[in-house]
Amino acid sequence: MDIERVISEMTLDEKVNLLVGIGTPGEFGNPPSRVRGAAGETREIKRLGIPSTVHADGPAGLRIEKNATAFPVAVMIASTWNREIARKVGEAMGEEAKEYGVDFLLAPGMNIHRNPLCGRNFEYYSEDPLLTGEMAASFVEGVQSQGVGACLKHFAGNEQETNRYTVDTIISERALREIYLKGFEIAVKKAKPWTVMSAYNKLNGYHASQNEWLLTKVLKEEWGFEGFVMSDWYAGDSAFQQIKAGNDLIMPGESQQRYPERKRDIEEIKEALEKGLITEEIINERVRRILKVLTNTISFKKYSHSDKPDFEKNAKISYEAASEGVVLLKNERVLPLYKGAKIAVFGTGQIETFKGGLGSGNTNPKYVVNILEGFRKRGLKIDEELAAKYEEKVKEMREEKYKPTEAFGTWLFPKLPEDWFDEKGLEEIAERNDTGIVVITRSSSEGIDRALGEGHPLPYANWVKDKEALSQVIPYSYYYLTEDEKNLIKKVSEAFRTKGKKVVALLNVGGVIEIASWRDLVDGILLLWQPGQEAGYVAADVCSGKINPSGKLPITFPMDYKDVPSWTYPGEPKENPERVVYEEDIYVGYRYYDTFGKEVAYEFGFGLSYTEFKYRDLRIEKKDETLQVEFEVKNVGNYPGKEVAQVYIKAPKGKIDKPYQELKGFEKTHLLNPGESQKIKIEIPLKSLASFDGKDWLLERGKYLVRIGSSSRDIKLTEIIEIEEENKYSVFD
Ligand code: BGC
Repeated sequence: MDIERVISEMTLDEKVNLLVGIGTPGEFGNPPSRVRGAAGETREIKRLGIPSTVHADGPAGLRIEKNATAFPVAVMIASTWNREIARKVGEAMGEEAKEYGVDFLLAPGMNIHRNPLCGRNFEYYSEDPLLTGEMAASFVEGVQSQGVGACLKHFAGNEQETNRYTVDTIISERALREIYLKGFEIAVKKAKPWTVMSAYNKLNGYHASQNEWLLTKVLKEEWGFEGFVMSDWYAGDSAFQQIKAGNDLIMPGESQQRYPERKRDIEEIKEALEKGLITEEIINERVRRILKVLTNTISFKKYSHSDKPDFEKNAKISYEAASEGVVLLKNERVLPLYKGAKIAVFGTGQIETFKGGLGSGNTNPKYVVNILEGFRKRGLKIDEELAAKYEEKVKEMREEKYKPTEAFGTWLFPKLPEDWFDEKGLEEIAERNDTGIVVITRSSSEGIDRALGEGHPLPYANWVKDKEALSQVIPYSYYYLTEDEKNLIKKVSEAFRTKGKKVVALLNVGGVIEIASWRDLVDGILLLWQPGQEAGYVAADVCSGKINPSGKLPITFPMDYKDVPSWTYPGEPKENPERVVYEEDIYVGYRYYDTFGKEVAYEFGFGLSYTEFKYRDLRIEKKDETLQVEFEVKNVGNYPGKEVAQVYIKAPKGKIDKPYQELKGFEKTHLLNPGESQKIKIEIPLKSLASFDGKDWLLERGKYLVRIGSSSRDIKLTEIIEIEEENKYSVFD
């Protein structure tokens, strides 16, 4: 298609129509999408041969009415630290989108884990921008290899759900450039995403979707983004301000359906044009960007989709991704379980296993293998009497006192009680088994943040009318374990340990929970995350040793919530936050805990293995504006396994304050057999060591300490590199 010719032939109405989606399909009396359950569509312009295109969520798998594969949530993908896995998962989701006729997959989510209570952290990768950007870039490459457009979201500063449509997020330019925008920058430059989604929140006074500095200056001019920007669904408060600021497409469009006091988006834009508030050149530019992308879509190319993605292949990819993302947090000679060990599984989560989180990041797979079923099918010797009791009791509770509630969204299940054993019953169970496993589950959703725990207030969510229902379901989101859960762990621990037997906690969660206060009660802790539809198989295979855990934490688990540096979360006034100032600035996650000498429960980059690795032969060479880092990792234990080698750099004291250290590179080994070693080569651009000085990126002179570690606090090799001369890099570089 000759885009310039088409633009010259388009009427103003046609142009404006292309900038505004059709409204939410299936809501407000709108017809359903041609791919039922999709989140939105662009408008068809028949006369010019421009088809409508279909947009569907999301980060853990395609979310449409029909079944699609449920993959591990993003924080678990990040825990793999394996770019190849992220690419494969993207490819699989892209394939499903393509075979269902979806043009754009609304993923990946890339906001930073600023605070553990953000209800959408499960959809986001990490507290670190490099890990975020690298995983996202590979994921995007995978999606787009299928001819489906990916969408980096939510650009930017959308680190909480509390008052997400209106809250004004105040972030210094340095923290933006180094932390909150950095991941987006990496993914834009590396993977050339077709689209970016602007966020709901305000950023430094302007809605992200109406923020010209963000969308036009930084994203398009400085980074050279060539795709188009779409708004988050019903974001912002003015259609023409969005178009003016550089938000090319308004989604889902027809904002007045949700906000009746508003004009139709299309009318508002045309009026602004008449009044001279925007120009036709601006509109042409937005149309040009959209058309450039649309001409590559499957709808434009008339791809005849099969409606039959390769579920079998994708289930294997989902399993493989999850099997690399499980993080072993503690292991006092309990895992892997020895062959034939008899195990007693506790916790309702063995039946109601959470594949993922809720909201637009939810999925609708054909099946979810729960933990109990996974253990059974893999032939683990579980206590069937106990299992039957759980099956019966969970069913009964859901039919009677803990019925699903219709209160809001899809988040419908009141939290089930966990502590229903007496001492004698437990003693018998401990007597006839070798190991106790306690499953703890957590879930959260878009639209609402998590709560801290019992005795703490509910998250502020004025749109939820039924507070009673909210208070029943919210415990699934708690940061702290409930008394009831702690009691279960305590009692199981006592019963098993008095008999010299061991206990493992299996954490089926989407984000940080408090662990330090109860971890001594158990011998092993496995962080299973929300691992997608193959959950039970993954849990069983890690326990049996078929999978050797190789995941590492993409976020810090602090000792306690009070240690978390984002003390201003969720903003002021507390009751109904209007403004949240990121006062901790660049000191997010480990950048804070390390710089200010805080003890943590589990540090960034941490994760145990069933084997051990040795690091040796570090060699670093400065070459063409990069550091060439080389070293060897050897498996010196008894199991085949993979290791994630991490490169942290500690900058010298200079003009600009720096965190104690920052992640500058990482690589996962292939599966190393006992005795096998692998040479790791990591290239670090010198520019990535620079700090933002208010105008440019400043690389200060001095001695830089390169620290190679198995985690951010388990450093194996170090070397000093001297940068002799200060250097500046422009934001356009
Ligand atoms: C979410 C987006 C999502 C969109 C479409 C919004 O509420 O914030 O992440 O892509 O809905 O479902």
